[in-house]
Amino acid sequence: MPLNILVGTQWGDEGKGRIVDLLSAESDYVVRYNGGDNAGHTVTVGDETFKLHLIPSGIVHKHTIGALGNGLVINPKSLLAEMEMLKEAGIDISPQRLQISYAAHLITPGHIALDRAREAARGTGQIGTTGRGIGPAYTDKASRNGLRVFDLLDEKNLAEKLKTHLDQVNHRLSSIYQTGTLDEKEIIQEFMEYARVLKPYIVDVAATLTEALSAQKMVLAEGAQGILLDIDHGSYPYVTSSNVTATGVFTGLGIGICPVERVIGATKAFQSRVGAGPFPTELEGEQANRLRGTGSNPWDEFGTTTGRPRRVGWLDGVLLRYAVRLNGLTELVLTKMDVLSGLPEIQVCTAYRAVDGKTYEIPPMGVTTLETYQPIYETLPGWQEDLMRVRRWEDLPQAAQAYIRFVEKMSGVPVCLASVGPERSQVVEVPRDA
Ligand code: GDP
Ligand code: IMO
Ligand code: MG
Repeated sequence: MPLNILVGTQWGDEGKGRIVDLLSAESDYVVRYNGGDNAGHTVTVGDETFKLHLIPSGIVHKHTIGALGNGLVINPKSLLAEMEMLKEAGIDISPQRLQISYAAHLITPGHIALDRAREAARGTGQIGTTGRGIGPAYTDKASRNGLRVFDLLDEKNLAEKLKTHLDQVNHRLSSIYQTGTLDEKEIIQEFMEYARVLKPYIVDVAATLTEALSAQKMVLAEGAQGILLDIDHGSYPYVTSSNVTATGVFTGLGIGICPVERVIGATKAFQSRVGAGPFPTELEGEQANRLRGTGSNPWDEFGTTTGRPRRVGWLDGVLLRYAVRLNGLTELVLTKMDVLSGLPEIQVCTAYRAVDGKTYEIPPMGVTTLETYQPIYETLPGWQEDLMRVRRWEDLPQAAQAYIRFVEKMSGVPVCLASVGPERSQVVEVPRDA
């Protein structure tokens, strides 16, 4: 079947954007099914770099159609800024190339204000959200109070709905959080303009994708975040508010269940996390600084959306097995192999030890009590060679090849590709292990 899915197997920022860019070469549609502009996906082609938050990374290719499914929460202001950025880079973002589901929900300045006020009120228990209004927008969706893209199609109705929504937000901001309120008139005015510009892009994405799949067009679903941030299966409550996992593709796009050709997991060769929450293999001090970088390279571990330094640690095989099981992954892409160059040795967590001494390959309650486990490590030899110019498997140092084979054995799925730099061409195809 012509549906492929790409998900992040960790806490986001695995390098999904650059893999989607590669897979887009063979895709007709590249579609987002979850999240919003909390995502930051980087695509580097030659000396041009695109940071995409809402528009699928496939848009960089000329032949693809990008779609935003009903599972998204869309901030129209961010979307228009991104469309402008792409236009300036010479990329066609006409309605023939970009489709927005009428059933996706809208993020307003009210949701953003509530997200920030809630975080501030949480004090030391902060989740460390991206502050993009994601949680409050999904809360409104679930409590049947949300504004939908569909509402942009009728100005009078939009103004009324926004007024009711902003009245409620302002009431909460002043009475619960004791913060300043929002200028309702100004926001309603802004949304009238968003509606005018976005109208031609609003379609029934579920219907067009179903038709495309029936016509054997290749559809690539681009996951945002990582599966450990999934609202149901992630390290709750330190998660985002949407279903990130591959199974979320069907509800997030509104397509019926159909066979999927490839379910690809983007996995960073080490691990990172932005925001709060458990992280069993987290490193501190010098070792962490080494993996994070100083910020002098564009790929150093600082958030694409917020610029926050990311927490970093060794690859966690327990969580990777969990990702394989949860998503039905058929293969992995291992990113940032080049960053591990120069380390004398590399550690990989292969199991957890519980407080009662029992060891687990995947803990019984998934990732609910991650903070109670001790990682058990296996130490592998490092390699000193710079990998950024390597393009062929046989040119990878022995130790780098061994690392990839180790990840395959540990996860139970093949690694099809390893990336050795952010640029489109910086990849090495991994032959199937004999
Ligand atoms: P995403 O959210 O999963 O799409 O990942 P981000 O774009 O937020 O972060 C990944 C960062 O790593 C970006 O700066 C990419 O350009 C960069 N990157 C991706 N793959 C590689 C790689 O193999 N090596 C290096 N050095 N950087 C990479
Ligand atoms: P991409 O698609 C990394 C994290 C936030 C926070 C938690 C909840 O680039 O991989 P939210 O704003 O969603 O309510 O924040 O989720 N988070 C991400 N971390 N990459 C992302 O996206 C993320 N999107 C959300 O840091 O811990
Ligand atoms: Mg990112």
